[in-house]
Amino acid sequence: MSAPLVIAVDGPAAAGKGTLARRLAAEFNLAYLDTGLLYRAVGRRLLDLGADPHGAAAAAEAAATLTPADLARADLRGPEADRAASAVAAIPAVRAALLEWQREFGRRNGAVMDGRDIGTVVFPEAPIKLFVVATPEERARRRWLEMRARGVAIGLAEVEAELRARDAQDSARSVAPLVAAADAATLDTTALDADAAFAAAMRLIRDRIGA
Ligand code: CDP
Ligand code: CDP
Repeated sequence: MSAPLVIAVDGPAAAGKGTLARRLAAEFNLAYLDTGLLYRAVGRRLLDLGADPHGAAAAAEAAATLTPADLARADLRGPEADRAASAVAAIPAVRAALLEWQREFGRRNGAVMDGRDIGTVVFPEAPIKLFVVATPEERARRRWLEMRARGVAIGLAEVEAELRARDAQDSARSVAPLVAAADAATLDTTALDADAAFAAAMRLIRDRIGA
């Protein structure tokens, strides 16, 4: 029996990964996993403990003991949670603790998974890999609109600076950096709304699988 289908969707912050991955999951009748939530939940635990998000031992312990309640928290978004997630995501022991859990999720019944290293590390054998990008200005604009809708008072320039800093940190880390897999198809959503991005992704997937 062949392995269940895994579709990897990676890319920088606010590129449209989650929006696209959810649509693809519905289209292919697959489960969806937002892997960023795992890192956000670990970072949030450390913030609660008053522990340094760069502290490896406490972060690894949090990663090894995550519960569904941790993933369901309402405070996993926003600048503080973003920074904490990116800090713990650079710790090898944290990534190791989350790796097998992500693989088991995908292997069970297949999945669309979005993150930074799905196509390079978690499922390097995935037959479909999309690397979703957009300009930093457009990504910042999208994140800023989301924050405004949630009632967060923050300037666009600050959002863009935070987003650029996080992308730089995620790209520069030595373990599982943000980088496109050699066999990923890149999708630039800068000028595409969610429907157009989905249509473009479906064209790339059809090309890839030759259907
Ligand atoms: O939604 P957004 O793209 O802004 O972030 P996210 O996907 O929720 O990820 C939050 C942080 O978790 C990222 O900045 C990365 O540092 C980390 N992350 C990662 O290292 N590997 C993943 N597979 C997913 C997220
Ligand atoms: O998962 P990621 O952080 O890459 O991005 P997202 O959560 O899918 O999208 C970030 C924001 O951009 C959301 O508010 C989406 O509705 C919006 N978006 C968009 O304006 N155009 C797209 N093609 C995709 C997403």
